[in-house]
Amino acid sequence: RANADYDLETPIPSDAPGLRQGLTSYGDAHFSLFLRKVFIKALGYSEDALSRPIIGIANTFSSFNPCHANIPQLLDAVKRGVQLAGGLAIDFPTISLHESFSSPTSMYLRNLMSMDTEEMVRAQPCDAVVLIGGCDKTVPAQLMGGLSANKPIFHLVTGPMMPGSHRGVRIGACTDCRNNWAKYRAGTIDIEDISAINEELAPTAGTCGVMGTASTMACILVGLGLMPFNGASAPAVSSTRLRIAEETGKNAVEACQKLEERRPQTILSKESFLNAITVLQAIGGSTNAIVHLMAIIGRHPGVAGHITLNTIDEIGRKTPLLVDLKPSGENYMTDFHNSGGMLDLLMELKPLLHLNALTVTGRTLGQEMASAHHAPVPRDLSCIQPFDSPLHPASSLVVLRGNVAPGGAIMKASASKERRLLRHTGKAVVFAGSADLAQRIDDPNLDVDPDSVLVLQNIGPVGNPGMPEAGLIPVPRKLAEKGVMDMLRLSDGRMSGTAGGTICLHISPEAADPTSTLGILQSGDVITLDVEDRRIHVDISDEEVARRVEARRGVLLSEGSTAPWAAREGMRGYRGLYMRQVLQAEQGADFDFLTAEGPKR
Ligand code: FES
Ligand code: MG
Repeated sequence: RANADYDLETPIPSDAPGLRQGLTSYGDAHFSLFLRKVFIKALGYSEDALSRPIIGIANTFSSFNPCHANIPQLLDAVKRGVQLAGGLAIDFPTISLHESFSSPTSMYLRNLMSMDTEEMVRAQPCDAVVLIGGCDKTVPAQLMGGLSANKPIFHLVTGPMMPGSHRGVRIGACTDCRNNWAKYRAGTIDIEDISAINEELAPTAGTCGVMGTASTMACILVGLGLMPFNGASAPAVSSTRLRIAEETGKNAVEACQKLEERRPQTILSKESFLNAITVLQAIGGSTNAIVHLMAIIGRHPGVAGHITLNTIDEIGRKTPLLVDLKPSGENYMTDFHNSGGMLDLLMELKPLLHLNALTVTGRTLGQEMASAHHAPVPRDLSCIQPFDSPLHPASSLVVLRGNVAPGGAIMKASASKERRLLRHTGKAVVFAGSADLAQRIDDPNLDVDPDSVLVLQNIGPVGNPGMPEAGLIPVPRKLAEKGVMDMLRLSDGRMSGTAGGTICLHISPEAADPTSTLGILQSGDVITLDVEDRRIHVDISDEEVARRVEARRGVLLSEGSTAPWAAREGMRGYRGLYMRQVLQAEQGADFDFLTAEGPKR
């Protein structure tokens, strides 16, 4: 009955796997292992179980998170996969973020979740980790944390929800939440209809069923080689999703044979990210994904600095929009799945892909594509267009620069509802923040016409902590009632991936920054957008910009100022940490001390 683990003559190597890893506490490694076993045995594990590779499973279930409602079933299936392959599966909780129940915004908490994930993956004795998540900020947070912890990671998304139905028309969260609410505001549908629609928009568990941020990040995981092809699109409530979960568990155990080669910093290369950006452009993905990708890239010591916002624009110029999904198009994620999903899309995109990029299986993307069973769907039944007959020839997501946005700005050009606005000059109507907007936007006396440019300030990362998805500034009611559906809109905030319109987002530096041009815009200033030239410009001289910035800086940073930029120094808790450390959108709004490069201030 003597257990060799307690043999004091046999040292425990510092890189031992399973329960033997990271035995630094108590000074005495043998005693640390002895104690670990005391406590884990309280859960009923045998020596046999404890001798296996340990696969941690990050469980983000919460009764506040309907997007993750199927996690209990997924967890069972992952464990089955792990145990069929001879591993030991141990799940653990990390925080759960749902878009609607994360005040002030889920983005405010994304970095906290990434820290939770990174530290728990590192702290606990698991050899590899399955990360189960799905709602918008979860996949980015898990990937940021997993990449920094650098243990082999296997993503499993919860999958998209099914569409619902109203008066015979399919509807789904959340593009149709917005469309229908806009119709209700404009008076074209009544309170009975909007109430009935509310019951049908999210009819099952799972993530929003359009190409919002959750679906976009799921497709990006496949592009990065971190998830099986059908992993992005299989419905949350499908049996396929459970089989993917089982496969994920098996893959994680298999990786334990070659731990060093399967670390995310080893698997993910610059080429992996170029593939992911190609996918992002081809699906007309969420603008939020750009912020997340920048944060993820910033965590990778070998890739940070080699890919910038410019890379996203350059790839966009040669990548056609191929997937016809809301909000850019008409269909739902279930249609994308039934059209062949990511495998079909990657087959179309093959000329643009770096097929030598590695995947979590240890094989290259090209090898995985060659060995996958590919049964193309007839063209007329598919929502994936052939490469040579795209929905939009290129550049669904564009990066804009100019005196309004020296650090860059983003626009989802493919989701513009009025193409004339993509090259447009108009007079600014400026709102100083969300409260000012709420107060004045529907004022019948507001001086605004369909050519006006609506500008919303102070909803950037510091200005309105978490950079809310308020960039979809509503069309003033008096114009909406006349049938105006789209106007040029500008802000330093974000927009939901499920929204559409001619909207310029993520303007950097944000208005709260004393050096910002966005911050000095005034109603009546003449603003020009030219998407072809990638330019966003206000027609005032450099001298006038400098004069206004100087005057405003004095006020913002004056003694006793309550402006966020000044007040953050005295803030406590997570809010203080966030306010002092958050980077601008083009750097992913990560905390500077979490980046591969480390702190800058
Ligand atoms: Fe969770 Fe849309 S609210 S994915
Ligand atoms: Mg969203």
